[in-house]
Amino acid sequence: MAWRGYFTESELPEKVVLFDTTLRDGEQTPGVALTPEDKLKIARQLDLLGVQVIEAGFPITSQGEEEAVRRIVKEGLKAEIAALARSSRQDIEKVASTGAQRIHLFIATSDIHLKKKLKISREEAIKRALEAIDIAKSYGLKIEFSAEDATRTNIDFLVEFYKAVEEAGADIVDIPDTVGVATPFAMREIVRRVRKAVRIPIAVHCHNDMGLAVANTLAGIEGGATEAHVTVNGLGERAGNASLEEVAVALKVLYGIDTGIVFKEIYNTSRIVSSITGITIPVNKPIVGENAFSHESGIHTHGVISSPETYEPIDPEFVGAKRRLVAGKHAGTHGIYAQLKEMGYTPSEEELKKIVKIVKEMGDQGKKVTDAELASIAESVMGYGISEKERIELEELIVVTGLNITPTATIKIRWGEQSWRGAEFGVGPIDASMKAVSRLLGDLIKIKLESFRLEAITGGTEAFAEVTVRVSDEEGRSVTAKGFSKDIVLAGVYAILNGANRLIQMRRVKC
Ligand code: KIV
Ligand code: ZN
Repeated sequence: MAWRGYFTESELPEKVVLFDTTLRDGEQTPGVALTPEDKLKIARQLDLLGVQVIEAGFPITSQGEEEAVRRIVKEGLKAEIAALARSSRQDIEKVASTGAQRIHLFIATSDIHLKKKLKISREEAIKRALEAIDIAKSYGLKIEFSAEDATRTNIDFLVEFYKAVEEAGADIVDIPDTVGVATPFAMREIVRRVRKAVRIPIAVHCHNDMGLAVANTLAGIEGGATEAHVTVNGLGERAGNASLEEVAVALKVLYGIDTGIVFKEIYNTSRIVSSITGITIPVNKPIVGENAFSHESGIHTHGVISSPETYEPIDPEFVGAKRRLVAGKHAGTHGIYAQLKEMGYTPSEEELKKIVKIVKEMGDQGKKVTDAELASIAESVMGYGISEKERIELEELIVVTGLNITPTATIKIRWGEQSWRGAEFGVGPIDASMKAVSRLLGDLIKIKLESFRLEAITGGTEAFAEVTVRVSDEEGRSVTAKGFSKDIVLAGVYAILNGANRLIQMRRVKC
């Protein structure tokens, strides 16, 4: 990274421990409730992902929670298993009974929490913390201590608190930004102040209320923290916690710091957690969102096709994801061509122009073309793989319709050097056109229109219409074909001609 030189080597750690709290703070996401079985599945995946510490739950809260922690411990994963406890004997004994190796103890230290929630003094908070450490130590637990609401705590008292906790025998201290009010500068400074006072490792636990959880976590590491609390997909109380995938990738790619994460498992883990928790991943979520490696604008797709690093900070495959080129109004010919090629289509220049025109017109009407729609457009424009010379083309269409007149359609079609023109009446312009085209085709192939479905795929009177027809020939072959146009009559005629072309092709190859 060009800016790496801004840091001296000694300011940054070589390794950072990821303490994953998806199963504890992540489960506090409104609307999420996990069964012990769900938690076990997620824990196994976190282990596969290479997470070093898994906070499996808060055992005092329910029997299910206690059982979940116990089952995860029994699983014998590589990761160290931690469990949460308030600074009370009851909570600590519950954690000890699960067999968890690490206890995550906490007590609030900010005046807001001390006065309005716990209704105790600062001195009493320290006293309770030290008593809790004594009890936890008697069970042989590794102790990580959090001063809840640390970032709203008087800094001198916070430092005094952590010093006392270290002296009492805690192994790690954690600095939680409980309500997500720190800025990166503040977080870096708070960690620096604590770093100067204690020798044991420091962790940071950042919430995303202001959208700064990841930035604050990274700033905490710049300040001297060597452990980061994270959750998959940034789940967590209220707006969530720092997201594991963003922190791990940023540490590796931007800072060159190792976390032991198996990056190829990132995308998969994110999807597993989303499906178990029912919390969908926003499309624009960094690293794992559907758009994280999607390119739409012509300039970007062109750049990415010639060299992905032009518009991608990392190779999507690095995190087990895939690059996507999206067809929309900003798409360029290059991007759409590359996307089509990837899907197995190689349109001629003329066909590509027509496809791009349709995609852009749809984009102007606010419609993003999905892969399936792009395939349909390409197939219809490219006559389902039948070369331009070999397919029947529409040369002319005139429809006359209105009140008190019989709708009439005049159509001219061409096949190779020959062309045919004819007219038909109908109950409406579409009916007249279908009859006219079927009659003209009669000289080449007798087709029967089995079904006709018209759909507006964009809104308004200028909507793009998609017509899907099912047509069959006398020998019992039947195909589905589509036609696209802003003119619904034209869309219908294109669809039926595409169907006829496909039937002729099938007849030729005798299928
Ligand atoms: O956000 C927080 O303060 C917590 C504590 C339990 C550490 O989750
Ligand atoms: Zn939290």
